[in-house]
Amino acid sequence: MIITCPHCKKQHNIDEKRIPPNVKMARCQGCGQQFPLDIPREEPSPAPPQPATIEAAPAPPAPGPVAAPSSQETRRIGVSLSKGGVGKTTTSVNLAAGLALAGKRVLLVDTDTQGQSSFMLGVKPKGGLTELVTGELPPEEAIIQARKNLWILAGGKSLAGLKRLIDRKDYGGELTIAEALTPLEKDYDYVVVDTSPGWDPLTVNVLFYVNELMTPVSLEVMSIQGFGEFLKSIASIQKFRKEVQLQYILPTFRDMRIKRGTEFLEEIEKIYGDKVCAPIRYNVRLSEAPAYGQTIFEFAPGSNGAQDYRDLVRKVTGEPDLFT
Ligand SMILES: Nc1ncnc2c1ncn2[C@@H]1O[C@H](COP(=O)(O)OP(=O)(O)O)[C@@H](O)[C@H]1O
Ligand SMILES: [Mg+2]
Repeated sequence: MIITCPHCKKQHNIDEKRIPPNVKMARCQGCGQQFPLDIPREEPSPAPPQPATIEAAPAPPAPGPVAAPSSQETRRIGVSLSKGGVGKTTTSVNLAAGLALAGKRVLLVDTDTQGQSSFMLGVKPKGGLTELVTGELPPEEAIIQARKNLWILAGGKSLAGLKRLIDRKDYGGELTIAEALTPLEKDYDYVVVDTSPGWDPLTVNVLFYVNELMTPVSLEVMSIQGFGEFLKSIASIQKFRKEVQLQYILPTFRDMRIKRGTEFLEEIEKIYGDKVCAPIRYNVRLSEAPAYGQTIFEFAPGSNGAQDYRDLVRKVTGEPDLFT
């Protein structure tokens, strides 16, 4: 369809089918001004306006490998919004592995340039998320099977290129990962996304894709004050995207000997009640397993770490009888 910029009257030929439904604003490539995009749609999206230009969006990647479709909607969980070294990657990998052991089909997506997730699973993919988005690899090569029921879309250094690609986009940059993953997710019951600490374009992208956030908070370092800042981060995301909800606060590095941790835990339980998961205890086995390319369930199935992550899987699935 042809749309005309109300400011400079330049006409643009756009393919409206390639504009994501939640994109409601366009930026004219002629005069640079923004204006509302009024594209007739069968089902108008309730999402808030996003800045956009009228250049065509990149085509979504080809559909993924054929797999048994799941009966329920795929759950998208982002392990995010916390500092480095609090157990995000340990949680992403072991939650994903635990869900897979429970018979769920899981895609683990690594959006950290360190590429730790594939290392922790002992696999060496030839590409991952970047290659999927750029089309260098088809989904069936970008996504590799790491275990029974567990697939991984790896991160790593090449994500720097993906960040640049996102930055260069005039509109919809924040939807890049969502556009790449949405066509594939039907093959999985869960998509678990690990993030890097802080606010890079990839983390923002994850927050525009996932609906549930799991936030590990280290009981060793977290204070009520630090938690306040963290709450502000969540509020700032929800201004843009209401669908993303803080679903799970996961206390990590629980050490019974540290009294401050206990006090902090009691405080957040008072505020968040059910959203606070049973803590993951400090367990040296959790830090040893990655060197062997093993999950905690493989490396030390009887350890506290394995028990705690099994509890987390029960909580997330809402199936208290799993693993019994
Ligand atoms: N509950 C735990 N007990 C002991 N060590 C842990 C625990 N959780 C994570 N670790 C270790 O702490 C370090 C940081 O964890 P990691 O998951 O990489 O954090 P993040 O992804 O948030 O940076 C890693 O060496 C990891 O093996
Ligand atoms: Mg990490």
